[in-house]
Amino acid sequence: MASLSQLIARPAIFSPSSPRTSSGVRPRRATVQRVLCASSRGERPEPDHATKHDRRDVLLGLSALGASASATLIPARRAGADPVATPDISTCGPADLPPSANVLTCCPPPSNALPVAFDTPDAASSPLRTRPAAHSVTADYVAKFNAGIAAMKALPAGDPRSFAAQASVHCAYCDGSYSPDGFPGMELQVHNSWLFFPFHRCYLYFFERILGSLIGDPTFGIPFWNWDAPDGMRMPAMYTDQSSQLFDPRRDGRHAPPKLIDLDYNGRESRFTDSQQIDHNLRVMYRQMVSLSPTPSLFFGSAYRAGDDPNQGPGAVENIPHGPVHIWSGDPNQPASEDMGNFYSAGNDPLFYAHHANIDRMWSVWKGLDARRHTDITDPDWLDASFLFYDETPKLVRIRVRDVLDTDRLRYRYQDVPLPWRTARPTLTAAATQRADSLVAPAAQAAGGGATKAGRFPITLDEATSVTVRRPVGAKRSKAEKASKEEVLVIDGVEVDRDVAAKFDVFVNTEDHSAVGSGGRELAGSFVNVPHGHGHAHGNGNGKKGRGIRTTLRLALNEQLEDLKAEGDESVEVTLVPRQGKGKVKIGGVRIELMH
Ligand code: C2O
Repeated sequence: MASLSQLIARPAIFSPSSPRTSSGVRPRRATVQRVLCASSRGERPEPDHATKHDRRDVLLGLSALGASASATLIPARRAGADPVATPDISTCGPADLPPSANVLTCCPPPSNALPVAFDTPDAASSPLRTRPAAHSVTADYVAKFNAGIAAMKALPAGDPRSFAAQASVHCAYCDGSYSPDGFPGMELQVHNSWLFFPFHRCYLYFFERILGSLIGDPTFGIPFWNWDAPDGMRMPAMYTDQSSQLFDPRRDGRHAPPKLIDLDYNGRESRFTDSQQIDHNLRVMYRQMVSLSPTPSLFFGSAYRAGDDPNQGPGAVENIPHGPVHIWSGDPNQPASEDMGNFYSAGNDPLFYAHHANIDRMWSVWKGLDARRHTDITDPDWLDASFLFYDETPKLVRIRVRDVLDTDRLRYRYQDVPLPWRTARPTLTAAATQRADSLVAPAAQAAGGGATKAGRFPITLDEATSVTVRRPVGAKRSKAEKASKEEVLVIDGVEVDRDVAAKFDVFVNTEDHSAVGSGGRELAGSFVNVPHGHGHAHGNGNGKKGRGIRTTLRLALNEQLEDLKAEGDESVEVTLVPRQGKGKVKIGGVRIELMH
């Protein structure tokens, strides 16, 4: 092995003179207060120092003072000072659409009244809807659902309840039509941050109520695509019947039933048998929902406040399986992988709402897995973030994240189905984990599994690249220490053009990543970009008009290091492997941090 010092990840992204932090465009905010208040509530500041030179300076200053002294020196921040809010819809601007788009705008129809605050439905008079697993429903249900979608499609696009207007909601919030209230010129983006789960929950909530009201059934619950269990791992039959309202011709024709979905899809068909694919999918689910989601921040995604650049960092489930399911469903023969394969068009496919119902179900499921650690975020900047939607009447409603934490209060539930991935902890592939000094290594290299060593970051990820990363702890930690602090692999400065479908995998301590078996433990996780927009409307939020997003991938390591028996090691070998969009992703740096 090459010498350690040569290989340690270069923390270039820490540099306070990084170009991103020097744009000066970011409006001034009470960052000092924010950090301190977060600590006073027992939360940690987000580990995104690279993007917040102001906050980092504060942290550096604090460490000189010592943590206890600092808490008394600086006042608590104003609670809820910086939640992202959708502005008045009259400010909705042109969307950032690919040339193939057949729409000109994604903006909602205008409202002649001001938005009203969301009113939680009254439990006594509102029936509880049950959202069923799409593969398990009756013919009557399918007929009703078809009638509802048909009624939405029959409304003119100028009616906010129409299917066309509902589909545009997604486009408007993902393709740069809005700026956060008070921050004109910046992009409001509901993906790649902690807004992902609540935004989509609100979206489905109103979609479901509109559909139910059009068929006169306030008990109607939309179906969820149960892709996390073997019986649901095919495109549900009701969506693939060509005579149905639920059918969309703009899908990948190869993926009609009986083809099993690949929850780790990267644009290439897997070579698994059906039973291997099912096993792989279950391990992927375990990895994303359990191993990579030990804390609220890692599950929901990174903090994104008004004035922040968008794309602060997606949560585990937003990357996978959310991204691959989109890309697996969209038609690769369409210019922009419409419909599901691009955010601007995804809402045009009725399957989108079933996919997102299952994503939404994962929020509820995740909270049920560990009552102590799996909690909603308590930061007021999350709780008070708000969006505008039309309801079924139709009137414009402002709904906050804090309004949607509990599905019972929203009067819906998910059909209770088994969680077969609950025990599918990934397993090691012996051949892939041999150390360099073992006899297996030369053969592995010959098989093409070797990776080039990274020199200095940033790099363009055009081939498998390895780097040795020093751990912040050198010794095995106790159970209690591990439960209180997660060791997190931070891959920072991930840059990709927003219209590029990209995926890269991250392996830890793997001599031969190509030998890692299905659902192998050596795979730490993946980054996925679902294409959206074209990159010209608002720029990228830091003052530069650009086509790209810049984000951070955070992967929890505790469980993986246990299984790899690497908890006592000083460093780990991280291998980044481009899968989709080879050569189109840049990586700023790789490091390991401890996070609460
Ligand atoms: Cu708003 Cu599945 O994306």
